[in-house]
Amino acid sequence: MGSCFLRIAGALIFFCSLALARPYVQQSNDLSTLRVDTSSASGRKIPQTFFGIFFEEINHAGAGGLWAELVSNRGFEAGTMDPWAVIGDASIVTMSPDNISPFERNKVALKLDVLCDVCPVSGVGIFNPGFWGMNIEQGKNYKLIFYVRAKSPANVTASLTDATGATILATASIMAAENWTRHKIKLQAGGASDTARLQLTANSKATLWFDQVSLMPVRTFKRHGFRKDLAKMLVSLKPAFIRFPGGCYVEGAILKNGFWWNNTVGPWEERPGHFGDVWNYWTDDGFGFLEFLLVNVPLFTSFPFQ
Ligand SMILES: *[C@@H]1O[C@H](CO)[C@@H](O)[C@H](O)[C@H]1NC(C)=O
Ligand SMILES: *[C@@H]1O[C@H](CO)[C@@H](O)[C@H](O)[C@H]1NC(C)=O
Ligand SMILES: *[C@@H]1O[C@H](CO)[C@@H](O)[C@H](O)[C@H]1NC(C)=O
Repeated sequence: MGSCFLRIAGALIFFCSLALARPYVQQSNDLSTLRVDTSSASGRKIPQTFFGIFFEEINHAGAGGLWAELVSNRGFEAGTMDPWAVIGDASIVTMSPDNISPFERNKVALKLDVLCDVCPVSGVGIFNPGFWGMNIEQGKNYKLIFYVRAKSPANVTASLTDATGATILATASIMAAENWTRHKIKLQAGGASDTARLQLTANSKATLWFDQVSLMPVRTFKRHGFRKDLAKMLVSLKPAFIRFPGGCYVEGAILKNGFWWNNTVGPWEERPGHFGDVWNYWTDDGFGFLEFLLVNVPLFTSFPFQ
């Protein structure tokens, strides 16, 4: 529970106990009349600038919501590999965290050991189901970016599949080199699934490291990385201001876990990300302070910050 909630709850309990503590309640026969004048003459005009929106990174409003990133825990920095999982059993594949990333402020990469000499034809490796399954739409293009290195050059296949991995919606292969290399691949979905997953697989013995794996629709709101459908709903609210990014999320239960805007700008691969300890989930801060400013440009012509 957030510290600011506890403070509000504490204040309420204090006032309630004051009220209860009074032993004698004076009975009064005086009658009071409260008259409310609702005529428009007595009304005060409420400025339009009072109507705005309050955005908080809560219940995945940003990560897994407005922000169009489909991979959850894309930098493997969440303190767990979750929700990444292996494809293949323990006799042929293992994954583990390894502090070998090329990025200084987020050192964890995922190490994948493929142990089979001749592997199942469908490949062995890892998959990410995104936030409760990825919504992959038929005919749409998706931009996959990831960093990979290999002990010795190895063939890596990236695929979008249904929830079980049985149906392939899109696929492409690259050769992983011995140094860290950034790969950018466009995947066009040949089918649809709203519980899809991203797979990274090999089909023979290999040791591979992955880091900063991002999958996004090519088309996002004003090309700024926001989901088009949700961003359009915000625009239609015609907000006069936006409050961001919270809420208790701003300060955290402890300040270290608050939203330090300075850590949320710059190249997305190099952002450390942080654990929001009030709402209890990790964000990679892909939707950072910079992106907040970008979503504001089309939302408002002129707006006051709050
Ligand atoms: C990599 O693997 C894929 C899938 O098995 C295959 O289609 C492709 O030809 C391979 N590429 C190389 C360079 O071996
Ligand atoms: C990785 O190695 C290849 C071939 O040896 C080279 O062309 C490439 O520039 C290197 N990339 C980096 C990031 O060092
Ligand atoms: C951001 O600010 C915090 C608090 O001052 C500091 O600990 C952190 O190192 C800063 N990050 C960067 C990238 O400067």
